[in-house]
Amino acid sequence: MKTKIYLSPPNIDRTEISNVVSAMESGWISPFGSFTNDFTAVLSEYFKKKTLLTNSGTSAIHLALRVLGIKEGDYVLCSNFTFAASVFPVLYQKAIPILVGSEQDTWNLSPDYLEEAVSSLRKKGIAPKALVLAHIYGMPACLERIIKICEENEILLIEDSAETLGSHHDNIPLGSWGRAGVMSFNGNKIVTCSTGGAVILPDEETLNHAKKLSVQAKEPVDYYLHNEVGYNFAQSNILAAIGLAQFGKLKEKTEKRRQIFDRYLSFFEEKTEIWTQKEGEKDFSNRWLSTFCFAEKSLNVKIKEALEKENIESRFLWNPMHAQPVFKTVEFFGDKSLDMNLFENGLCLPSGDNLRNEDLERIYEVLEKIF
Ligand SMILES: Cc1ncc(COP(=O)(O)O)c(C=O)c1O
Repeated sequence: MKTKIYLSPPNIDRTEISNVVSAMESGWISPFGSFTNDFTAVLSEYFKKKTLLTNSGTSAIHLALRVLGIKEGDYVLCSNFTFAASVFPVLYQKAIPILVGSEQDTWNLSPDYLEEAVSSLRKKGIAPKALVLAHIYGMPACLERIIKICEENEILLIEDSAETLGSHHDNIPLGSWGRAGVMSFNGNKIVTCSTGGAVILPDEETLNHAKKLSVQAKEPVDYYLHNEVGYNFAQSNILAAIGLAQFGKLKEKTEKRRQIFDRYLSFFEEKTEIWTQKEGEKDFSNRWLSTFCFAEKSLNVKIKEALEKENIESRFLWNPMHAQPVFKTVEFFGDKSLDMNLFENGLCLPSGDNLRNEDLERIYEVLEKIF
């Protein structure tokens, strides 16, 4: 059996290993230590905002909702075409999610359907409190229009930028446009800590609140005092040691992923009718995953199966939230057929920034045989 080519595996070298050894040798293996401080500092500088490291992207979304005051019974608009972890934290807060469908160009939440959702809810006397906007597969959503709608309707924007480190709009990183932003550093992300995340916050007050909540809401006194419910959401110094080393290579990683995407794109454009995520004028995507939607029915399944036979991983695109049994009672605004078409006819191809030339040759050998 040939060695497996994964979709988006971690890319670890001596820098990460030596940082982890140094964290272990320092004895600081809890959520405190120099790597936690340094990784927080570089992220805060990058986003030009307050940043708190967390143990996952999911916990970062949960913390963002909590510190922005989202509570039981509040309505929260959410992207429909995303990973379920975008929406689950809304339920952890006992708030009510409302799903908004995608647009053709970016595959992200459509500002038109957002407008429709807001005005329809308003007619029923409902004023949604927040929007969890996912920028999918690295591609910026239509930010300026979405921000305008949020501002006009006093909706707090939380950017789920879990997949987008390295992406920007108008040269400003995704994750720093909203009232809060969220990153994931799980094992398949462009920058990984093995597992981990970060929440990007607007001011000292929300940062301090999030910090306290992330360590079981222990009040700053010399005995155990808890005035509110907290969580165990902090990130350890060992994970921050990995993240810091990874972050230093973000530019090269982004360039490599964009090159991988461009090559797939030119290949498919010559062979068949495809549809992919388009970058807007001021947008820049890290192309975290190379994603394509095929006009020919079942071509995605055919490619997936052919790759699988050669021990190469690929993956279907998100199965939209409106189609998930767990969200079957949740209200939806948009065009279900558009989101379903992405799921039914799309595919993510191997996109890791450690793909070697010989790996790419193996992938293209399979693809050439199909067309
Ligand atoms: C869009 C999106 N939101 C949220 C998450 C959750 O991040 P994590 O796996 O770090 O909890 C992920 C990644 O898994 C994601 O892709």
